[in-house]
Amino acid sequence: VPKNFRGHRLLITAGPTFEPIDPVRGITNLSSGKMGFAIARAAQEAGAEVTLVAGPVHLPTPRGVQRIDVQTAQQMYDVVLPQAPQHSVFIATAAVADWRPASLSDQKIKKNGNKVAPTFELTENPDILAAVARLPKRPYCVGFAAESHDLLKHAREKLERKNVPLVVGNLGPATFGRDDNQLVLVDAQGHRELPRADKLSLARALVNEIAQRLHAKSA
Ligand code: C5P
Repeated sequence: VPKNFRGHRLLITAGPTFEPIDPVRGITNLSSGKMGFAIARAAQEAGAEVTLVAGPVHLPTPRGVQRIDVQTAQQMYDVVLPQAPQHSVFIATAAVADWRPASLSDQKIKKNGNKVAPTFELTENPDILAAVARLPKRPYCVGFAAESHDLLKHAREKLERKNVPLVVGNLGPATFGRDDNQLVLVDAQGHRELPRADKLSLARALVNEIAQRLHAKSA
């Protein structure tokens, strides 16, 4: 592995978030965290000092990686924002819940006798990647796009809306929980596919690509 991230600090988010409804229930998604954890491992192998902010996942911490566990999008935001300026790269692989219940019930919501189902008001979560990309002292930001259709179009749209230099698209079929994946790198110049492989091989290729872009930028 080329040590092309020696002397750099990388910040990575991974996994889903969990947005509580009451003490025993919540809203989450099927992200396993595997891609983000593989990237953390690959970055550490490439010589980086890695901070991994993880939602609820069942994965071992990659060797030499500093891991911070969170549950909600707001907690992830609160950990990531102050950390970001101390890192040269931010890679947002987390599948952050777009919405959370507007209020949290402090008691378990019970079925009532008259068969009326409860309704929930949702409120939007902060966009962590967009917020990091707005920081005056911002790291090089990489976003992910998991889409079921029109991947390139959505990846381009994210590039502009979130104002980041690189978006990595997951080419279908659904990648969540799988050990392999297929990625497409989308930037202002165009797009390039990385052939289907296991997530660790892809993570190493991606880390290499990011290092090249970072070094080209600072050259
Ligand atoms: O917002 P959308 O889901 O289209 O974009 C996905 C990208 O934005 C991913 O990199 C994801 O980690 C990041 N994101 C984030 N905070 C959110 C939503 C998405 O950092 N609240």
